[in-house]
Amino acid sequence: MKKRTVLLLIGFAIFLNIASNPIFANENFSQVKEKIIDTRSPNIVIEDNKENHFPFSLKPLPYDTSALEPYIDKKTMEIHHSKHVKAYVDNLNKALETYPKYHDWSLEKLLYNLDDLPKDIRQTVKNNAGGVFNHNFFFDILKKDVEIYDSNLITKINEKFGSIENFKTEFKNAALSVFGSGWVWLVSDKDGNISIEKSANQDNLISENLFPIIAIDVWEHAYYLLYQNRRNEYIDNFFNVINWDKAVENYEKHTTTNYNK
Ligand SMILES: [Fe+2]
Repeated sequence: MKKRTVLLLIGFAIFLNIASNPIFANENFSQVKEKIIDTRSPNIVIEDNKENHFPFSLKPLPYDTSALEPYIDKKTMEIHHSKHVKAYVDNLNKALETYPKYHDWSLEKLLYNLDDLPKDIRQTVKNNAGGVFNHNFFFDILKKDVEIYDSNLITKINEKFGSIENFKTEFKNAALSVFGSGWVWLVSDKDGNISIEKSANQDNLISENLFPIIAIDVWEHAYYLLYQNRRNEYIDNFFNVINWDKAVENYEKHTTTNYNK
């Protein structure tokens, strides 16, 4: 066998060895990438609903549109849910339509990994996936006539703010101070430390590993029909429809889920 042929055979063998390595094999490359994402933040606390991916659909309200009357009126709930949130769902699907690579990504995964999305859809996905996530969370945290009861969350609120009333005052002040459209959140970090945070537009804090416990939507579309410009009154009445059962549940699971695994 000629020397040149031997060298070619050796070169081909080396190529086959490299190509079969998991790091270079196409199928396994995404696993390597997932590992990088995990190590970037090993304590992700948002529950990942892997069934919830493209094409996204409008999640039904967990109650009748009149269930929160008189604090949040039926008409506002109807329009908020079936028009505003539906638009976020539609716009998100439209943005992702021509990007099949992301069609099995959940809402949470999209929001957590925004930096990995192509630039031309990143902001649109941020706005609209954020809009869907935030509203799904918001509607779930609303329920009338739920009593506050002793729990780890209430203990933590008392420790942090001194009392429930002080917490409400600080939460309200934060909600009043949002300039324009946005949200106010009670969040927990992975260690169970709670804080009140604000976000603009449809931004949220899950990419910062802050787990939402309670949220108020202070976009005008959330209250304008009933309260017009009286955001102050809307916030006061919001405290009558916090589902404390759900808030306690949210706090209890803040360290127990990892969406990206
Ligand atoms: Fe809203």
